[in-house]
Amino acid sequence: MNEVYEKLKKCREAVAEKITFKPELALILGSGLGDFCDTMDVKETLPYSEIEGFPKSTVAGHKGQFVFGYSGGVPIVAMQGRVHYYEGYSVQDVVLPTRLMHLMGAKMLFLTNAAGGINPSFRAGDFMLICDHICSLVPSPLIGANIDELGTRFPDMSEVYSRRLRTIIENSAAAEGVPLQRGVYIQTTGPNYETPAEIRAYGRLGADAVGMSTAVEAMAARHCGMDVCGISCISNLASGISANPLSHKEVQETADRVAPLFRKLVTRAIADIHAAK
Ligand code: HPA
Repeated sequence: MNEVYEKLKKCREAVAEKITFKPELALILGSGLGDFCDTMDVKETLPYSEIEGFPKSTVAGHKGQFVFGYSGGVPIVAMQGRVHYYEGYSVQDVVLPTRLMHLMGAKMLFLTNAAGGINPSFRAGDFMLICDHICSLVPSPLIGANIDELGTRFPDMSEVYSRRLRTIIENSAAAEGVPLQRGVYIQTTGPNYETPAEIRAYGRLGADAVGMSTAVEAMAARHCGMDVCGISCISNLASGISANPLSHKEVQETADRVAPLFRKLVTRAIADIHAAK
């Protein structure tokens, strides 16, 4: 059998030994949303370190655990801390948690992240509904023998971020009075921030925001048939758009400042997505 699938199945068995909770929706928490779980009715938690073979997050400020419980009555599994390509893992390992949440039963994936704003109309602290992505700077997570048990060899990517879910989220934002930009997310490898020339190039390619995660997870989720949606917190203006040098501290500070609003938006969106089923 396929090595990547073998490892995934072992992780699934390790989770099944400890967790009985059956999530409907998977939520990946980006910078600033780490404390989302404080508002959940938490039933079970599972540190990644207790799952043999699971890649560990090494970024400061990221906890590493699955949190199982209810948000607005919806059974969810939330990832407190994600795995990034720049940490040195293979891109197949980066998407292992996404696939694992699919195997736990999640039919939907809600992605969040912090991103740099490329679109000149964006301001730090804005939220952007991800309408599409550019992932050509990072290897596809689907490279290698196809896992037929999960999905097809040549999956369609013409609507990675579900139009139906996007409409619901736009309505949720309007109902909560939270302004929501929309745009295209481009994933880089990181860990360095970009040069101004790179940002100009990405803008010409059609990107509105840049970050170091999300698109590969979205692709893996589409491959295994999950419905996907995502929101970026624009934590800073991208290199050259802002006159200031970028720092992880600035990204974290802005993300933390708007965290309560981000939490409100995501909570409402999850409830509305569930209600619209
Ligand atoms: N570039 C890349 N990744 C990011 C940025 C950025 O400006 N901000 C937050 N994540």
